[in-house]
Amino acid sequence: MIKVALLGHGVVGTGVVEVIKNKAEQLFEQTGEHIEVKSILVRHDYDVDYKEKFVYSFDEIVNDEEISIVVEAIGGTDPAYNYVKSSLLAGKSVVTSNKELVAKHGFELMNIAEEKNINFIFEAAVGGAIPVIHGVRNCLKANNVHSIAGILNGTTNYILTKMIDEKQSFDIALKAAQELGYAEADPSADVDGIDTCRKICILADIIYGNHILPENVHTEGIRNVRIEDVDILKMVGGAIKLLGVAKAVDDDKMFIMTAPHVVFNQGILYAANDVFNAAQLETDNAGLMAFYGRGAGSLPTASAVVNDIVECVCADGTLYPAWGQEKPELVADYKEVPMQFYVNVAENAEKVEEIFPTAEIIYIKETTAFITEKITENQLTEKLTGFTVNSVLRVL
Ligand code: NDP
Ligand code: HSE
Repeated sequence: MIKVALLGHGVVGTGVVEVIKNKAEQLFEQTGEHIEVKSILVRHDYDVDYKEKFVYSFDEIVNDEEISIVVEAIGGTDPAYNYVKSSLLAGKSVVTSNKELVAKHGFELMNIAEEKNINFIFEAAVGGAIPVIHGVRNCLKANNVHSIAGILNGTTNYILTKMIDEKQSFDIALKAAQELGYAEADPSADVDGIDTCRKICILADIIYGNHILPENVHTEGIRNVRIEDVDILKMVGGAIKLLGVAKAVDDDKMFIMTAPHVVFNQGILYAANDVFNAAQLETDNAGLMAFYGRGAGSLPTASAVVNDIVECVCADGTLYPAWGQEKPELVADYKEVPMQFYVNVAENAEKVEEIFPTAEIIYIKETTAFITEKITENQLTEKLTGFTVNSVLRVL
């Protein structure tokens, strides 16, 4: 019998209880063990038929020698960080869906797990149900990953879809995302790109091997996305998506950022709508590949958490070595990495052609919209001096 403790009884926590209960037989067949949620750390009671599992002090969990796996589904870092660290130090493997915790403290926590020969794993922290962490960790050992670009936040993709396809207001779409259990406790983490940033950092940590702290990564959210630009881009087969992007650039540096991007209609990033997430990787041997699925929600997230529990049960020691320590100098200056931009200005096409002779003008009416050739953001800013700029978006 494997006894699991759960910290938190919200969207993810309740999903984990349900999946472990509903899949009891299947989990036994896969592991040869009965998996039982023994204790659930809560701050108050909930009206459920397993109230006897509720405990109100973390000490009851960390001091319980029967518990070998702790699932953290509280969110944030206080008290989650202390609870997770104490659990690992007590020799219990930890599974978490908490990307803030992993993005900030993953290096330290993975190292403790390694020292203790146990596991600290977190598939649900990136992409909800999608096994993207397993994919990049386990299935690309014969590849170098040149780049990764992902829609990594279900809430913002849901909001953008509802605003664009159903003409819902931002506030109504956000409220619905909250009711569906997709949003963070503070939804500005979703809307302002912070959650996507944490997730692209975790993927970059795994792919490129060193801890990248979110505070070193340029991050923009969706608040300034204009429906006018959405409509213009739609006419030329483009869409606006909030992406986390990371790629290796010269001098062993990494370009990494979170921002709304223009994507064109030949791929999964264009097609992924609603709460769906997608991550697209460019690799040397496998070529282009993608991961796609539900990025948030109770059961989809619990699906990934419970799979991690199974991995802990079946593991003979630490499964994944820790990534390397933080090296802020690895992050390239994003303003010096060339890329294409979508620009919308108040000036006419003649003026645009004069300053951007190689640009592709895609819209001429009351404003002019165009796509630049590859230039750096610093060069773009210089060229746009004197223009009345309505919007600038990066093109993937
Ligand atoms: P919820 O807010 O729904 O649940 C969090 C739970 O933790 C609540 O039940 C809350 O209790 C409880 N909690 C908070 N502080 C404490 C504490 N000190 N002691 C005991 N319990 C506490 O969040 P989610 O379930 O949505 O998210 C949990 C984590 O999973 C977050 O890190 C989130 O980012 C991540 N995640 C969420 C996904 C989703 O779709 N929702 C998907 C993937 C990851 P109370 O009821 O008292 O507030
Ligand atoms: N708030 C997050 C999202 C939850 O919307 O993607 C899943 O990590």
